Amino acid sequence: MSEQPKRKHWVNWALFGATVIVVFLVGIFTAQIMERRAEKVARFQIINELPEYEPRNEVWGENFPRQWESYRGTLDTNFRSAHGGSSKIDYLEEFPELVILWAGYAFSKDYNQGQGHANAINNIRKTLRTGGAEDAPLPSTCWTCKSTDVPRVMAEIGVKEYYDNKWVKVGQEFVNPIGCQDCHDPKTMSLRITRPALIEAFERQGNDIKEFSHQDMRSLVCAQCHVEYYFKKPGNYLTFPWDKGFSADDMEAYFDEIEFSDWTHKLSRAPMLKAQHPDYELFMTGVHAERGVSCSDCHMPYKMEGGVKFTDHHLSSPLRNVAASCQVCHRESEAQLIKDVTSRQDKVLELRRLAEKSLAAAHIEAKAAWDAGATETQMAPVLKLIRHAQWRWDWVAAANGVGFHSPVEALRVLGTSIQKAEQARAQNALVLVKLGVQLPIPMPDISTKELAQKYIGLDIDALKKDKIKLLETVVKEWDKQALKRQGTLIDYKLNK
Ligand code: HEC
Ligand code: HEC
Ligand code: HEC
Ligand code: HEC
Repeated sequence: MSEQPKRKHWVNWALFGATVIVVFLVGIFTAQIMERRAEKVARFQIINELPEYEPRNEVWGENFPRQWESYRGTLDTNFRSAHGGSSKIDYLEEFPELVILWAGYAFSKDYNQGQGHANAINNIRKTLRTGGAEDAPLPSTCWTCKSTDVPRVMAEIGVKEYYDNKWVKVGQEFVNPIGCQDCHDPKTMSLRITRPALIEAFERQGNDIKEFSHQDMRSLVCAQCHVEYYFKKPGNYLTFPWDKGFSADDMEAYFDEIEFSDWTHKLSRAPMLKAQHPDYELFMTGVHAERGVSCSDCHMPYKMEGGVKFTDHHLSSPLRNVAASCQVCHRESEAQLIKDVTSRQDKVLELRRLAEKSLAAAHIEAKAAWDAGATETQMAPVLKLIRHAQWRWDWVAAANGVGFHSPVEALRVLGTSIQKAEQARAQNALVLVKLGVQLPIPMPDISTKELAQKYIGLDIDALKKDKIKLLETVVKEWDKQALKRQGTLIDYKLNK
């Protein structure tokens, strides 16, 4: 046992006294820190009462000038990172195989990098995917993730009635881009879900959206739009395919079970699925979600202005502002953090390109089999493999951020895509051999967007002419009617 000499009484008392003082000081210090933390964000005051459905961002902006000013930053289209940012990137020009992958579907006409929220109305009006003359008119459901007018119209005419209409018929209603109304309760400014599809998807899983935490809500407001969805027939009812789970495999099983397809491929005749942008779903499989980080932590960091702390509403690539977006949690240098992102994206892109090349070849070779007289029975297993391979590729490719949100899962899903595309090609080769066709099938020159579009028989000049006509007549009329309805009409500047 210990043989320490017994301390004198006074030493013990002195130690005791010192401990009391230290504990007291630590207490004061901690209280101060806690108080700072609780200082929270800018106290705000609602100067003008807002009605339940106020679509105009500028009217909300009168109450909240800092958030409004920063929101207007989303109009900026200058920032560009290695693989993302807000400036225009024409994906079909960069990856012409995509034209082949989407033959017979509107995405083969036009597909660009996403830009900031305030551009959403201009962009959906301008893209060649909307309003083309030779198309069956798009459903009104397409407005759902573009405008603060959506909750207003749903409240006015009913959710079902809102979906069951045509995009071009109701355009006069949707003039205010994604904004305050989409994420906030006008009375309390707390975060609020305004899109029924998200609430309904959770309900089917037995979850009540009201039971999610505040930190969950900082991602769920984004999951109203940054998710995979489809238009359920009849009535084009916006639905999230989450009933079997969030993963690419679960959603694929869901779509197979209900025998859903978005379109029939023009070359291979496969019953295809178009992935939208499963940002939330892919993100949820990554380490940041695992550690409780929310979308807003990186995409809406805090900002200081004149001693006031508030949430930066200039939603964009976090690489525009690494100090606020990443360095609040990570100690690495800005250059290192950017490298962490880019190196992961490069690897995802490497596999993605392999999948794109395999898939383009698979479609073209399947066409050769049909041309040589293949039967439905011979082609069925090939087409199923093509359907699954392209779904898995698109599940990663359509998600924003080039896989950064969850690199490991993105690479796994791409791996299975390449495997299935190559299996489709191998099976198709057997069919071709049976039909006596000489292998390999010669590949057309699809090295540019124009060549690829010509190969699938698209007349882009005619589409452009139709679009200009639509913008100069129909769309102008929409704005006039909207101005009459709501009194003001902010000209969210058209970007190049
Ligand atoms: C850990 C930080 C972090 C979190 C959390 C996060 N992201 Fe991202 N996000 C990024 C990075 C980094 C990029 C890549 C930006 C680039 O390439 O310039 C990105 C890219 C994006 C992009 C494309 C932007 C562009 O300019 O290319 C969108 C859209 C996006 N994220 C949405 C979301 C959504 C929705 C969530 C939540 C479900 C989320 N993010 C969660 C860091 C994050
Ligand atoms: C995409 C969703 C989204 C949109 C659109 C949006 N906000 Fe926010 N807003 C948030 C989030 C997330 C927070 C942080 C809330 C929290 O953590 O409590 C926030 C916080 C706020 C706050 C509280 C103070 C602060 O700065 O944190 C105010 C006020 C606010 N927003 C005003 C606005 C205004 C005005 C607009 C329109 C110009 C707007 N918001 C658009 C998501 C959004
Ligand atoms: C009402 C639907 C909706 C909501 C809610 C929404 N987004 Fe978006 N978001 C979009 C659309 C649509 C685009 C593409 C706009 C375009 O290119 O015209 C977009 C674009 C973006 C971009 C790309 C911006 C750029 O400059 O590259 C980022 C980043 C982003 N959103 C993050 C978020 C985050 C984070 C949240 C939640 C805090 C969120 N969004 C909530 C619909 C939405
Ligand atoms: C709110 C805190 C938070 C923010 C903000 C944040 N991170 Fe992280 N990040 C984490 C945590 C926690 C981990 C997991 C590491 C651990 O637990 O040791 C992580 C892990 C990572 C990893 C390794 C995991 C992987 O996916 O390979 C990278 C890279 C990374 N973060 C980059 C970034 C970048 C870039 C940003 C800004 C765009 C960012 N982080 C913003 C908290 C954060």
